[in-house]
Amino acid sequence: MVLQYNLITLTSENMGIGKDNQLPFDLPTIVEYCEKFCAQTEDKNKKNLMIFGRNTWDGLKENEKPCFGIINFVLTSRDDLDVSKYPDVYVFHSWKEINDKLIDPEFKKTYETIWIGGGPELYEYAQKSEHFFRAYVMKVKKFYESDTFFPKLVDNVKRIDDERLPKGIQFDDGVEWEFEAWENTNLPKN
Ligand SMILES: NC(=O)c1ccc[n+]([C@@H]2O[C@H](COP(=O)([O-])OP(=O)(O)OC[C@H]3O[C@@H](n4cnc5c(N)ncnc54)[C@H](OP(=O)(O)O)[C@@H]3O)[C@@H](O)[C@H]2O)c1
Repeated sequence: MVLQYNLITLTSENMGIGKDNQLPFDLPTIVEYCEKFCAQTEDKNKKNLMIFGRNTWDGLKENEKPCFGIINFVLTSRDDLDVSKYPDVYVFHSWKEINDKLIDPEFKKTYETIWIGGGPELYEYAQKSEHFFRAYVMKVKKFYESDTFFPKLVDNVKRIDDERLPKGIQFDDGVEWEFEAWENTNLPKN
């Protein structure tokens, strides 16, 4: 597999991921856990990379950009997004442009994991793509009113054990949550 897309999401029990272009919940410890998890690399000379939609980027506060301190790819159809003041942030206008950058031999040396950071359109696209590898779902066991939701996972996934994840139900920020990892069962045989 040339490229491996890994979805990452933090959802509520009702699969809510957003409200008014922000997160629907205030869960600082869990969010920080997610950020650290996404930034982890085996090769300390490389960074991980996260692809997300324009709205998610626009919803970040100034001090949160670049998101998670990793390489950020922002997808937009518009030409008005200036990210020149931020290190490690790139703007793309199509998945083709993104993939061309991801397979560029020089750029490939700089990153390790490709995270798909949402929102829903990107999650939908990524899990139906030939590059879909895994979905990492941090599920908070509480209902939060939301206007944006994580889409249904495709059928061709199986739950896997990833030793980096905490096992079973966790308790932080006053709520129970669980970290699930799912893997594409149609991975190409190498
Ligand atoms: N809990 C979580 O894990 C999580 C993760 C991510 C986001 N969120 C939340 O989700 C909400 C944002 O989601 P959203 O659905 O509104 O927006 P989004 O996915 O962040 O952005 C959607 C925009 O991305 C661009 N885009 C998407 N696909 C494209 C394509 N193929 N080519 C070109 N541009 C493309 C378009 O931008 P243009 O309109 O500029 O063309 C589109 O309007 C926020 O509330 C955010 O906090 C939560």
